[in-house]
Amino acid sequence: PVALYGELRKNSMGVNLANDNELKALADAVNAARAPWSAAPLVPGASSGGPTVQVADPAKRSRTVGSWQAADAATVERALANAVAAQPQWDRLPAASRAAILEHAADLLEQRRGEFIALAVREAGKTIPAAIAEVREAADFCRYYAAMARKLFAHPEQLPGPTGESNQLFLNGRGVFVCISPWNFPLAIFMGQVTAALVAGNSVIAKPAEQTTLIAYQATKLLREAGVPEAVLQLLPGDGATVGAALTRDPRVAGVAFTGSTETAWAINRALAARNAPIAALIAETGGQNALIADSSALPEQLVKDAIASAFDSAGQRCSAARVLFVQDDIADKVIAMLAGAMDELKVGDPGLLSTDIGPVIDADACSVLAAHAERMRGEAKLIKEVALPAECAEGTFFAPRAYEIPSLDVLKREVFGPVLHVIRWKASELDRVIDAINATGYGLTLGIHSRIDATVEHIQKRVRAGNCYVNRNQIGAVVGVQPFGGEGLSGTGPKAGGPHYLLRFATERTLTINT
Ligand code: NAD
Ligand code: ALA
Repeated sequence: PVALYGELRKNSMGVNLANDNELKALADAVNAARAPWSAAPLVPGASSGGPTVQVADPAKRSRTVGSWQAADAATVERALANAVAAQPQWDRLPAASRAAILEHAADLLEQRRGEFIALAVREAGKTIPAAIAEVREAADFCRYYAAMARKLFAHPEQLPGPTGESNQLFLNGRGVFVCISPWNFPLAIFMGQVTAALVAGNSVIAKPAEQTTLIAYQATKLLREAGVPEAVLQLLPGDGATVGAALTRDPRVAGVAFTGSTETAWAINRALAARNAPIAALIAETGGQNALIADSSALPEQLVKDAIASAFDSAGQRCSAARVLFVQDDIADKVIAMLAGAMDELKVGDPGLLSTDIGPVIDADACSVLAAHAERMRGEAKLIKEVALPAECAEGTFFAPRAYEIPSLDVLKREVFGPVLHVIRWKASELDRVIDAINATGYGLTLGIHSRIDATVEHIQKRVRAGNCYVNRNQIGAVVGVQPFGGEGLSGTGPKAGGPHYLLRFATERTLTINT
């Protein structure tokens, strides 16, 4: 293991919302950033483009956020040729030079946070605190991967050998890396993937989620301004099924960093495997069916507060979100009653207002999928609470947060990506059955435990397969370098983003042996 903790823990400070001056400066900066934004492929030498896509604010569909032009097949081809040609020179740069560019990008991001926060709110429907956290995390990724690259890539590692022989281990970029990102962390995950691939010496073609192309465009321009050459970082807006698929079946691609659904990860894995080409590296960070287990020693007030944050923050559109609360029957009635009461206090509405707890879901498709789930739950679950939506929510893609009591995990066939919490009661004798049921889903992303009994916590943590386990707190908001993030099984391949081993998957290892 590489000792990279401690010394690298200089995380971005974000904004102190309790400080009036900081709040006013933030409001001024956000208000100064005005729609409409626009975006297009960022590919040197490309002349044409595909169709133009209009972007509507998910909180108010009649409000235009901007528009972007998709990449056509010729632009994809041009981007691949550019990336192949540009990579060797970028890889030969000293790692410290690449790291310095990332550090400069982090500073620029913080200086211009107003525009990125405005975009995260208007294009992705993020609340203001969530949008601030996006910028913080993106800056953290830049600085953390820069520091790690200085440590890992700047000098070859000297290896032991017999007298008269020198042995060294070098890390190099793999070649062309394709970074495919989701809409739910449109800045942080986009920047995290791209900066890791770049600092390791790869050229990068980024394919952002269709829903959040505008913010990705601004982030790409910022990285270029910080010093990344244009052909080394290119942006290809477009559909996953066309632009994304064209990239992942191309034999020139040496690696793919993907974050999104498990189904898309399977499709990418198949596309890479079907190529007659060198075997590509795939980093896939995917979905979850995340559980929160509470035993009868849990503090109900703390449990309910953390369950609400874990299930409903970001309208439940976090891969880390708690989907199922397993609560021991001794405290279940009390906890369910408190949960319903606490949900009554949730304010759903315009994410641009600081008083809003929960904003819209990303688009009409997401609403339909959630509505279909609610329809299915009518027959299989007992509704605990459905939060009433204020009238203005009719103008956007809002889904009323709700909680159901369900008899078992079998009722949930797949990840429910929205503000829906399911509650299951368990008896003291059934803890191992609960653990087996969680493991049987095949996912392994986050796990919450609420218990004041150390032996119970240890028993659950050791047996449940989950990448990130949180005890007596909420289970969202992993911090770069503090809680390296990522799952196992159906939830991802690892290595963890924001952790000390992440960059290694973006690199090839070469040894040099010299008979001295
Ligand atoms: P998605 O899989 O629909 O799309 C993700 C990206 O893949 C988009 O850019 C999309 O255009 C692209 N894509 C789609 N089909 C493709 C194809 N055939 N080939 C290449 N690219 C293709 O996911 P989403 O709806 O944008 O994001 C939500 C999902 O992401 C949830 O399942 C969530 O759990 C997961 N997620 C996981 C993590 C994590 O770190 N584990 C983090 C955030 C989100
Ligand atoms: N890293 C994000 C979180 O922990 C997904 O919520």
